[in-house]
Amino acid sequence: MKAVRTRGQRGIDGLEMVNLPDPGQPGPGQIRVRIHASSLNAHDLAVVKGVMGAADGRIPMSDGAGVVEAIGEGVDEFAVGEHVVSTFFPDWLDGVSPVADFSTTPGDGIDGYAREVVVARTQGFTQAPAGYSHAEAATLTTAGLTAWRALVVDGGIKAGDSVLVLGTGGVSVFALQFAKAMGASVIVTSSSDEKLERARSMGADHLLNYRRDENWGSTVRELTGGRGADHVVEVGGPATLAQSIQAARIGGHIALIGVLTGVAGEIPTAALMARQQRLQGLIVGSRRHQQDMVRAIETIGMRPVIGRSFPLKSIADAFRLQAGGGHFGKIALEI
Ligand SMILES: NC(=O)c1ccc[n+]([C@@H]2O[C@H](COP(=O)([O-])OP(=O)(O)OC[C@H]3O[C@@H](n4cnc5c(N)ncnc54)[C@H](OP(=O)(O)O)[C@@H]3O)[C@@H](O)[C@H]2O)c1
Repeated sequence: MKAVRTRGQRGIDGLEMVNLPDPGQPGPGQIRVRIHASSLNAHDLAVVKGVMGAADGRIPMSDGAGVVEAIGEGVDEFAVGEHVVSTFFPDWLDGVSPVADFSTTPGDGIDGYAREVVVARTQGFTQAPAGYSHAEAATLTTAGLTAWRALVVDGGIKAGDSVLVLGTGGVSVFALQFAKAMGASVIVTSSSDEKLERARSMGADHLLNYRRDENWGSTVRELTGGRGADHVVEVGGPATLAQSIQAARIGGHIALIGVLTGVAGEIPTAALMARQQRLQGLIVGSRRHQQDMVRAIETIGMRPVIGRSFPLKSIADAFRLQAGGGHFGKIALEI
């Protein structure tokens, strides 16, 4: 089978297409899945660049979607021919996460889905939403589930809430879609007026160019009548958190998700305390969260936004597009 592997610190240019032995038939409790699509995340880019410390020769990509080709003994959850999507934490089924790292995550601690076939435990997958293409399904593993968890599971979003999403990448566009589906109003920030217009066409209520408006936190307060946003989907990190604290309402929820501006920095703790906000770090979600999200997506009929799609052989071009920030929503890989 064809697969892509990383080569140490050689980054995007070091990605190589290889032929690997077919993984064979599934054992007890396993399924064999023909992978048809994946999608790119900032985390995958970090793995490819060698920033995340994944092993040399790793098959990248945490997102995988495809068709069940065979089931092992004792498997009754999946049937041959069923469309499935991978889970980010195959060992986190429900409840509190048993892991605080990426050692069990496909495409980081273990091999991922830049390949044609995988044999895995059933818990490595869930059903994909009915009617989704494989590329659409693949967007859910990381970006979709992170946005879902931030707003629905941990945020407890309800109709009438206001949501601030930073930027227009994979997680943020999913957050815009879930927030609108839940009856919330949404404020989107971006470095690009063109991308802001795309966000408006998807229902965004207020648009802010964070390059032109450095004090966007105060602007969000004004746009919400002085109240502040109920939820902030914080993908920036150290350079954006102070403004996010300004932007969130007293008692609001800030889901600390991203490291786009770095992995450490100063936090205005007094402002956070005075505004009595909940600042919560999170990494993706459990298999149960994913099953709940898939059911919700089928009910509300939501479709992911795929800005560009590349064949597996052009994976390096896909990563170059992502690294340049030229995308809106998700970048898909067809396998
Ligand atoms: N904790 C988790 O579970 C989890 C899960 C998924 C992702 N993440 C993290 O979340 C972040 C976003 O991931 P992603 O996959 O959605 O990335 P992505 O698709 O590559 O999105 C990147 C976008 O973020 C925006 N951005 C960059 N710098 C910004 C800044 N200073 N302020 C506001 N927006 C900025 C840009 O939007 P514009 O072009 O519109 O300006 C850019 O296009 C990454 O750090 C990633 O590692 C964490």
